[in-house]
Amino acid sequence: MKVIVTESFAESCQLVAQEIIDVVNQNPAAKLGLATGGTAEQVYPHLVKAYQDGKVDFSGISTVNLDEYMGMSPEHPVSYRKCMDTWFFDQVNVDKSRTYVANGLNDPEAEIAAFNEKLYGDKMLDFQLLGVGVSGHIGFNEAGEYLTAGVHIEQLDESTIQANSRYFDSPDDVPRQSITMGVGDIMKAEKIVLIATGDSKVPVMKRLLADDRVSADLPVSVLKLHRDATIVIDRELYEKATR
Ligand code: GLP
Repeated sequence: MKVIVTESFAESCQLVAQEIIDVVNQNPAAKLGLATGGTAEQVYPHLVKAYQDGKVDFSGISTVNLDEYMGMSPEHPVSYRKCMDTWFFDQVNVDKSRTYVANGLNDPEAEIAAFNEKLYGDKMLDFQLLGVGVSGHIGFNEAGEYLTAGVHIEQLDESTIQANSRYFDSPDDVPRQSITMGVGDIMKAEKIVLIATGDSKVPVMKRLLADDRVSADLPVSVLKLHRDATIVIDRELYEKATR
């Protein structure tokens, strides 16, 4: 696992966006695994700008998103489908029929099957963008006794519910369940880039960078097992996490 330390979060976003642009420019039919969350959100404007400036063409790509809240309509203002449409898909020339964000209203078993078809029906992910939760989750794979390899329904941690409640009227409105790629699905991507910033991520980054250990209790630590995984963090976070 490689760690890149930038001078600012803005620089991190620029750098991560450039990684994605490079993947697409090298392979216009690239299959991208995408992420939501407040951190990843800041990467998309750079992709939109690059598209507007004629520096990248998204017409040939396909995408699969990491996760979605269960029980939430794709039309809900904070569904991950809505976020992806608003932040990215509706602003570039991607073919939306080749974008997949799980539908939280569907029958769970049927949606797991659909998710797997999108992930493995044609080719594997060339790239996966990640954020990290305050619990150390990637996608919605929460910390615990074990990790799950494949697409599954996950119970959200109390810390995740609290962290994500800023998007809802109250913590009670945050869905308790999600559908998510498993860690095995994420690890099958050719290249993985994780972006993190902010004080809330200091404890997780401290544990991640402290040693060479991999633990189900810190899901993000599986990235240490990947051939081409990069963590992009700003100096402020890096220094707080390694002090
Ligand atoms: C959600 C998503 C995760 C994301 C996390 C980080 O919980 N399911 O995939 O990594 O948010 O969010 P933020 O960047 O807002 O801290």
